[in-house]
Amino acid sequence: MAWFWVVVASGVSVSLLVLRRIVNSAKICPSKAMMTGKTVVITGANCGIGKSTASELAKRNARVILACRDVGKATKAVNEIRRRTQGGELVVKYLDLASVVSIQKFADSLQKEEQRLDVLINNAGVFQCPYTKTKDGFEMQMGVNHIGHFLLTNLLTDMLKKSAPSRVVVVTSSLHKRGTIDFDDLQSERFYSKSKSYANSKLANVHFSRELSRQLYGSNVSVYCVHPGMVMSNVSRHVVPGFIKSLLTPLALLLGARTNFEGCQTVLYCSVAEEVANETGKYYGNCKMEPWHQASNDDGVAKKLWEVSEKLTKLA
Ligand SMILES: NC(=O)c1ccc[n+]([C@@H]2O[C@H](COP(=O)([O-])OP(=O)(O)OC[C@H]3O[C@@H](n4cnc5c(N)ncnc54)[C@H](OP(=O)(O)O)[C@@H]3O)[C@@H](O)[C@H]2O)c1
Repeated sequence: MAWFWVVVASGVSVSLLVLRRIVNSAKICPSKAMMTGKTVVITGANCGIGKSTASELAKRNARVILACRDVGKATKAVNEIRRRTQGGELVVKYLDLASVVSIQKFADSLQKEEQRLDVLINNAGVFQCPYTKTKDGFEMQMGVNHIGHFLLTNLLTDMLKKSAPSRVVVVTSSLHKRGTIDFDDLQSERFYSKSKSYANSKLANVHFSRELSRQLYGSNVSVYCVHPGMVMSNVSRHVVPGFIKSLLTPLALLLGARTNFEGCQTVLYCSVAEEVANETGKYYGNCKMEPWHQASNDDGVAKKLWEVSEKLTKLA
């Protein structure tokens, strides 16, 4: 009788895998555009979605700068990518988005050492960590996911303008729909919920990308806001112990979660596809434009968040 259940289980698994393949095939970047001569910065590229994006861009011959806070991990990632492709160039640069000084040093050295910046991919992210603060006293999720990238993008805007047509790709999450921007407690000092703070930081990414696209309108620097879907990266490190994640991964993948390769496809699409070159200030998932959620639509909040972020980072 045992063999019967083995056959049934195998049949179900194979059917689910085939179904998964069919469903996910639509989410692979349809663009074949090459990136020869183009320079791309990806924050948090030592693992997860960022590392897969770096690998795919190297295959398209880009010069890829992996902007990471752990140079050892990033170098290991480069060595792994190199086992799969010899294309492009891969450069590791130190960047800690939880430190204003580090962001300033990174931007300074990029401007001195690089000829151009064609695509900036704001990918690094912290997910549901315990309450901690960045070096400058910002709550960690808001600090890294929004404020750090806000400062970085502003410091690199001139370079992006000089390299135009160029792009900024902001990696948010569909969880931004559960977020709110509470200007009276942006750093969650009065109340901290790790899931709410993550959602808030991802909503801040959305407001940032909309306001950035408005400010850069006409400059030929396009802004894309991407949600990658649910991806079995390292993002859950503060929530799910590693061994449990390893046990759950096959089931999660069968149920529709994505591999890092699948998760990077919309980021890749917005970074390279010629057909979206003239679009800006839009939201993307599954390699296509999607409607903004109502949580994103308040331009007044976006403007105010920009002004508050400017003050926090001492840009204004
Ligand atoms: N995975 C999902 O299901 C999912 C869904 C929606 C949105 N996203 C978004 O996708 C993006 C990529 O996440 P992922 O899923 O690839 O997660 P991941 O595997 O955990 O990668 C996150 C990256 O961010 C880096 N990072 C964290 N703090 C940093 C800091 N202070 N300075 C510089 N880099 C820092 C990490 O570096 P270390 O390795 O050194 O920590 C890592 O390289 C994030 O913005 C996340 O919010 C993910």
